[in-house]
Amino acid sequence: MSKSSAHGANPAPLTAVKASNPLTGTLRVPGDKSISHRALMFGALATGKTTIKGLLEAEDVLNTAKAVTALGTPATKSGDTWTVLGRGTGGLKQPDGPIDFGNSGTGTRLMMGVVAGQDITVTMMGDASLSRRPMGRVLKPLRQMGLLTREDRDTLPLTVEGSSHLVPIEYVLPVPSAQVKSAILIAGLMAAGETTVIEKEPTRDHTERMLRYFGAQVETEVRDGLTRITVHGDAELEGRDVVVPGDPSSAAFLICAALLVPGSGVTVEGVLVNETRTGLYTTLKEMGADIVFLNEREEGGEPIADIRARYSKLKGVHVPAARAPSMIDEYPVLAAIAGFAHGDTRMDGLAELKVKESDRLAATAAGLAANGVRATVDGDTLIVHGTGEVAGGGTVATHLDHRIAMAFLTMGLASDKPVTVDDTAMIATSFPEFRGLMERLGASYRS
Ligand code: S3P
Repeated sequence: MSKSSAHGANPAPLTAVKASNPLTGTLRVPGDKSISHRALMFGALATGKTTIKGLLEAEDVLNTAKAVTALGTPATKSGDTWTVLGRGTGGLKQPDGPIDFGNSGTGTRLMMGVVAGQDITVTMMGDASLSRRPMGRVLKPLRQMGLLTREDRDTLPLTVEGSSHLVPIEYVLPVPSAQVKSAILIAGLMAAGETTVIEKEPTRDHTERMLRYFGAQVETEVRDGLTRITVHGDAELEGRDVVVPGDPSSAAFLICAALLVPGSGVTVEGVLVNETRTGLYTTLKEMGADIVFLNEREEGGEPIADIRARYSKLKGVHVPAARAPSMIDEYPVLAAIAGFAHGDTRMDGLAELKVKESDRLAATAAGLAANGVRATVDGDTLIVHGTGEVAGGGTVATHLDHRIAMAFLTMGLASDKPVTVDDTAMIATSFPEFRGLMERLGASYRS
């Protein structure tokens, strides 16, 4: 078993203690996870050299770097720059053994799209959390295009057989998932003709933006409330220089901590503010948070800004279902801070939360209950009954889920009694610097 599959074996609990002083500082967070995975994979599919600055060096992305290397396109680091030597869209090689994606759904699902268009057979595996997650949502369209799977199931481990004769498809996404959209578009690069994905709700569009940057022909059209994204097949990508902006999903924890601790003022510089990712920030502003985007600019085809947050009195709000894709990874931390708001925070349309690294709806509700926050789950809706105060004092079961751990380690910085999470080892999958950066702002944790 690889190191990345070993989480849970030696749990590392951690306790967050109420901050006695304001959290202050200006800092940066590591690179965006979604963009980092894509930069490595598109570099592998391009001809020539791709360089990447600001790559997120967390386990999920490092597993993707190992995967592209195993497929004959070495990803290496020198100084602060990663380099991928691509072999062209259909040029990847048969790997010597199984590829382990650790905890990463994004790595696995996007790579299924990559492998679909190659004449190779790849065994894909992952940790206990990833092995429970649904792959059928990606395999169904990819099978229509020509991918074969050896096993008759839709969960890892799986052996998938690609093909250099992929058929283009038109596919209406049954779930709002950027991973599914991306896997199809990536496979579409290698199909003979135009492949179209139709979205009812817009999801993060990093694949479309970055594929264009690498030279693919990708068109997006909004018609009758549906978004149609078409990629032209037999594509040739050219190696590029990529700069990865800061991850707004990681910045979220620092920003939320600043809102909770009286007197705080925190600025996170260089954060991705693509509107398909900023639903949390919109919601926090509606709750009364003092958050501003400063120095808005564009870098590498993506909008970025410095995000400044100051301690704020929050009120409960209604978060509409339509906003869910733009903040899907941020519901645990929103729920964790909603208890400090006055009034109910109602979050609708949370079905996709149940199939993340854990059932995040259940894990979040259980974590709230353990810490004296009243919450109601009703189908795909979560309502947190905020009173302005959180008792704390509980231990949260994290279920191998990095965002559950970080969300409750944020809550504990302002709750009356300390909040403990049963494991933090898996935080390294997305944000290894979490504790260090929080402590730099003035937060206290005890092991
Ligand atoms: C991601 C898409 C989202 C998100 C994940 C990263 C991506 O998943 O939760 O962390 O990079 O495309 P879904 O596509 O399953 O919603």
